[in-house]
Amino acid sequence: MKFIDIAEIAARQAGKIITESLGKVKEISFKTLQSNLVTEVDKKSEEIIIDILLSEYPDFDILAEESGASSTKNSEYMWVIDPLDGTTNFTHSLPIFSISIGLLKGNEILAGVVYDPSRDHMFKAETTKGAFLNNKRLHISKNKDIKKSLLVTGFPYNVEQNPDHCFERFIMMTMESRAVRRLGSAALDFAYVAAGIFDGFWEVKLNPWDIAAGLLLVREASGKVTNFVGEESDIFNKQILASNGFIHKKMIELLAEAENIKIAL
Ligand code: IPD
Ligand code: CA
Ligand code: CA
Repeated sequence: MKFIDIAEIAARQAGKIITESLGKVKEISFKTLQSNLVTEVDKKSEEIIIDILLSEYPDFDILAEESGASSTKNSEYMWVIDPLDGTTNFTHSLPIFSISIGLLKGNEILAGVVYDPSRDHMFKAETTKGAFLNNKRLHISKNKDIKKSLLVTGFPYNVEQNPDHCFERFIMMTMESRAVRRLGSAALDFAYVAAGIFDGFWEVKLNPWDIAAGLLLVREASGKVTNFVGEESDIFNKQILASNGFIHKKMIELLAEAENIKIAL
């Protein structure tokens, strides 16, 4: 079976379990920080995804959020999995969350799916073959004006420490754009940039499983993904700026300028 097809099957199965569990979460535990939640549903979803992927490709490596590097087979292929992106939303029954599965060969992202089970939105991309939402080709927005841009961001779990000027950057972007949203699922933030809904997305301290599939979606929809100084991003980057390309330079300028804002915390 094609990589993308097995990833889609796994994401749909996981989506079913997550949707059935919405509003019924029994056990919430915390990772290192009080704000970083994990539920039994994150773990169940991850198990299902890994089982399905390994049943088809038993020799591939896996990097998954809840179990880490659960198989180290020294394969050149690696599945990168976020079994539930948007756990905080999920635990509050806010239906904005997704499942993200990317496939790497060496450093190259070959394929990715981001699935939003609440809307049955299946975002898919394969390298050089374009990005799709439910089989409809996606393209980034054509907007060139930051003042008319709808942007999105997210905050890391240690936001109260204001890492990498994230509050100042939020202020700057809010002042300069049409509006800034904060959805709570980084994989969907990327997908909505690919779909031309958001013109740009930035965030710091994301993890490879938040990034892998979404980064490919944006690139394959003709968008741009870099760090905050314009260098091409990979999934291990701690600064992510994804945009339609037209407002990219302006966003880089504003992200830099934001460092001059003084706020009292
Ligand atoms: C989180 C979401 C959120 C982002 C956080 C991520 P999780 O992932 O993607 O939008 O702001 O940085 O950690 O923990 O719900 O999988
Ligand atoms: Ca995540
Ligand atoms: Ca997660």
